[in-house]
This record gives sequence, C-alpha cells and structure tokens, in this order.
Amino acid sequence: MNLKITKLSGDGIGPEVINEAVKVCDSIAKKFNHNITWDEGIVGANAIEKVGNPYPEETHDKCLNSDAVLFGAIGDPKFDNDPSLKIRPEQGLLSMRKKLGLYANIRPTFTFEELIDKSPLKKELIQGTDIVFVRELTSGIYFGKRGRSDDKNSAFDTCYYRRDEIKRLAKIGFNLSMKRKKKLCCVDKANVLESSRLWRETIQAMELKYPDVVVSYEFVDAVAMRLIQNPSTYDVLITSNLFGDILTDEASVISGSIGLMPSASIGDKTSVFEPIHGSYPEAAGKNIANPIATILSSSMMFKQLGLNKESELIDYAVKESIKKGQLTRDLSPKNFVSTSDLGDWIANKILNI
Ligand code: IPM
Ligand code: MN
Repeated sequence: MNLKITKLSGDGIGPEVINEAVKVCDSIAKKFNHNITWDEGIVGANAIEKVGNPYPEETHDKCLNSDAVLFGAIGDPKFDNDPSLKIRPEQGLLSMRKKLGLYANIRPTFTFEELIDKSPLKKELIQGTDIVFVRELTSGIYFGKRGRSDDKNSAFDTCYYRRDEIKRLAKIGFNLSMKRKKKLCCVDKANVLESSRLWRETIQAMELKYPDVVVSYEFVDAVAMRLIQNPSTYDVLITSNLFGDILTDEASVISGSIGLMPSASIGDKTSVFEPIHGSYPEAAGKNIANPIATILSSSMMFKQLGLNKESELIDYAVKESIKKGQLTRDLSPKNFVSTSDLGDWIANKILNI
C-alpha cells in the first residue's frame, strides 16, 4: 500500500518520540511491503517562532492531503506564565482538531503485566484494566464562548453542546463497545449541568438502537474515584471534552507512566495519532523520553487504516521490549535505556520476527 503520512513533531520531546515512531513505521513498511512517503509540518511553539501561527495553513494543507497524521506534542513553558499572551502553542492543537473535524479522541488505558508494580496504585486494584475513553474533542467548554468583563475582574467560559455533536460521538462509543465488552459508561455532571442533561437524554434515546450494550450513567466526580478504586469494572467511557481531558490523565497513572498511553483522534477528514502526554520540556533533547505512547499511536494509525496485522506486530514488539526490561527512565530511573535505543530495539524486533 502507498501511504502518505505527515509528521508534526511539535515541541519539547515531540521530535524525539516522533523519530522513534517513524523508525517503527518504516520497519513495518519494510516488513509488509508498504511504501510510506513522509511529509513534515510545523506546529506549536516552534511554528509561532517561525511564522507567528501555531497551526499554519501550510501545515493544515499537508494534513488534509495525507492518509494520516502522526503528532508529537506541543507546549513550551515560555508561554505558560504569561496569561496576557494572545498566541499560544496549544491553540495550534485546538485549531488543528477543529479544522480537521477531529471530534472523537480515543484514549485507551491498560496495564502491562510486567509493569504492574510501577503503578503507584495497588496491584490488586488495577490488574486487568482495559478501558477506552472516547473523549469529545471539538466542542464543549474548550470551544464555547469565553470572555472578560470590561474591568477585567470577571471571566467566563461556556460549555456548549448540540445534540448532533453528542450523537456522533456516542455512536463511536457504542460501536466500540459492541466490539468489546458491550459496556458503555456515559460520564457527566447531570446533577448540575444542563449540557450534561442533554448528553444523558441523547444517549438514553440511542440505547434502543444498541440493545446488546449495557449503558450506565455516572457523575464525573464519582468516576474519578472509581477509576482509582476499581478501574477494571469499566469498558468504554464516553465523555465531554474537559472531563475527558482530566480523566485520561488520571487514568494514565494506572498504567505506570503517562509515557505509555497512545491516542487516536478521528472525525470527518484525516485522522491524527498522538501520545496523550505533553511536551515534557524538562526532558527535551536528553534522549530520555518514553517513545512507547507515540509508537503505540502509530499502531492505532495502522489499525485505523485497516492494516490490522501491522498494528498487532507493533503491539507485540512493544510488549516484548517491556518483557525484556527495555525501559526508559520514567519506568526505571536507575537502569534505563535511551529513547533512541528503545526505538531501535522495537524496530529491529519487527524486522527480525
Ligand atoms: C491533551 C492536552 C491538550 C488538551 C492541551 C495541550 C490543549 O492536554 O491533548 O489532552 O487539553 O486537550
Ligand atoms: Mn490533557
């Protein structure tokens, strides 16, 4: 197959983890006789520095004209402590999501048996965790009306949802749960928020179409607790943009490191695959970041492109690396392998199977 993939490395550790994912994709291409043409676009803080726009039109065109986008991370502390700045790196990510219509963000959380002791949570609680969040990504409070009063002493952000936005997101959640344990949890705050009541109403109406799926409705505060106390009782969770942002970071702790968890953002146009972690600026350029979240994101990419064997082989090689103790510093602070050595190990494993 001929594939055109755009890589958007972004900031911080982005370029390093993307390099490793590219290595892995190239070894998959070699193994399965695919032809990958890589293109590259700028995004985030480095795009602001170069052209004054964190998601330039040129980058958007490259994404639109690709089969998939592999995304690293964006964000730079330079921009974090000055709330008066008008242009920030994160806007690049948000405008990419909006312009590509990436309304569903699929974020799995699972454990690796060998890493079960790396989690700060007790082994008995987290063993067997295998859940998937479907986070709404192009609406809600992230994109609602916001502003400041004239005297600048009050501010507001609006959580706005339309029924059709909830429906298309929920559809992805229902279909995913049909392929899994047929359990769907709608996470909201319907005891307080009107937008959450619209979520419940919309999903309740959809339940009839999916009689095999057991649907539960839980408040986000309770879910935050149960995710830690009893995560393996969940299967698929669907939720709004902000709740999903918070819960997926929380859930990543279960696996032992946020550097392990991948994601896929899908919607109307080209899909984007990215680790759930941020740009981790303190580690940038040190060859210590964990590339697995990005490598597993590339596995999600192959799966989304219908290339299941390719995806499975990446997952297998990653599992093998963990089994063989090839761990980066986040998981093994005293005795660790570098970002690039781990990428080499996984790429070689793929080639030598
Ligand atoms: C994420 C990130 C982004 C978000 C930031 C960088 C804007 O935290 O992808 O989860 O809040 O969605
Ligand atoms: Mn986040």
